[in-house]
Amino acid sequence: MRADFPLPEQARLTEEIESLALIRDPDSPGWTRRALSEVETAGRREVERRMRAAGLEVHVDGAGNLVGVLEGRDRGPALVTGSHTDTVLGGGRFDGMVGVLGALEALQCLAEAGVRLSHDLWIVDFYGEEPNDFGVSCLGSRAVAGNLSRGHLDRTNEQGRRLGEAMASAGIDPDRALSARWNPGDLAAFVECHVEQGPLLEEQGVEIGVVSAIAGIDRAIVNFQGRRDHAGTMPVPMRHDAACAAAEVILEVERLGREGGVGTTGHVVVDPGAANIVPDHSLLWVEFRSIEQAWLQSARRGLEGAVAEVSARRGVLGEVEWPSLEAPTPMAGLVAKAVEDAAVGLGRSVARLPSGAGHDSVQMASITPSGMVFIPSKGGRSHCPEEFTEPGDLAIGAQVLAATLALLDEMTT
Ligand code: GLV
Ligand code: MN
Ligand code: MN
Repeated sequence: MRADFPLPEQARLTEEIESLALIRDPDSPGWTRRALSEVETAGRREVERRMRAAGLEVHVDGAGNLVGVLEGRDRGPALVTGSHTDTVLGGGRFDGMVGVLGALEALQCLAEAGVRLSHDLWIVDFYGEEPNDFGVSCLGSRAVAGNLSRGHLDRTNEQGRRLGEAMASAGIDPDRALSARWNPGDLAAFVECHVEQGPLLEEQGVEIGVVSAIAGIDRAIVNFQGRRDHAGTMPVPMRHDAACAAAEVILEVERLGREGGVGTTGHVVVDPGAANIVPDHSLLWVEFRSIEQAWLQSARRGLEGAVAEVSARRGVLGEVEWPSLEAPTPMAGLVAKAVEDAAVGLGRSVARLPSGAGHDSVQMASITPSGMVFIPSKGGRSHCPEEFTEPGDLAIGAQVLAATLALLDEMTT
């Protein structure tokens, strides 16, 4: 690599991340800034201000994505980087924010190294990456990849509100979002910097992860309809208890997810929810993740088999719906090589690893060569308020992102 990329000042990116985190929902736990909420709009206004302060031309596209553009020497297709600044409920300060604010830090690093890219550079804060109450994740990147459908917009939350209505209230015209697809010919490559959200890099003492593939995600909704009875008088063998059916299935999901992938039941509802009534209804949200498509298929069969067996044995009615399936996504060799060469060129230790978490890169991979830079997460914790990455690791991530962009600029010219 020709340029000499300085290591960004450690405290700066940490301060940028921590000050954005202060824009949070005061009525929710952790560092909550959920998509489609007022606090998220306020957060994005602050990100826009910071993009402009960094010298970018900023616009909001039809899907609500915040796009900051730095003109390149020769224009042509754009190099794209970025991530998201929305959070899960009770989430942390780093998941997503590192890829947006870290890109602004990388911009400064490129400037200090005297590098002017030949391609235009787009730094994107993608709208609504985390799953919302309508069960749709990656709203903004899904739209620009052409993968947002009217079916997504018609999905309803538990209050019966449509996703399209919620987007309109947040200032995003759903019809414009449906036609917000970016033209692949306008893009050279995409790279996203993100915290690992798992323990591997820290455990191995490795500074930079090069993501090989992103796990596919298959989500199920399971409903059991049993029979409501008096909890003091109906003998246990005579019951049709919907909560017990759910409990058996929850443990089966965990068993299925011990090897080859992971299985989680993240949401459980038991009705009517009284201590002295045998429950007649239960609902579970289940998800399986794996980088092997065949494993996802076998987990699906395993869950359906378990629901059928438990229902028959307990005399309850069990139903499984599969509302969303995201296939495993390999990252582009071109981008993985750029990340690896950039990191090794800077003397950083590197490991290739798959991502168990979903990312905007999954969507971007369907329209341009895409890849990811991972930096360590303390204790592997994420989607919780304790999520943390050391200032030194953040600085290294921004430095490697800068060097990767410079390499991709050469490799795609
Ligand atoms: C996104 O953070 C996901 O992996 O669910
Ligand atoms: Mn997340
Ligand atoms: Mn994320």
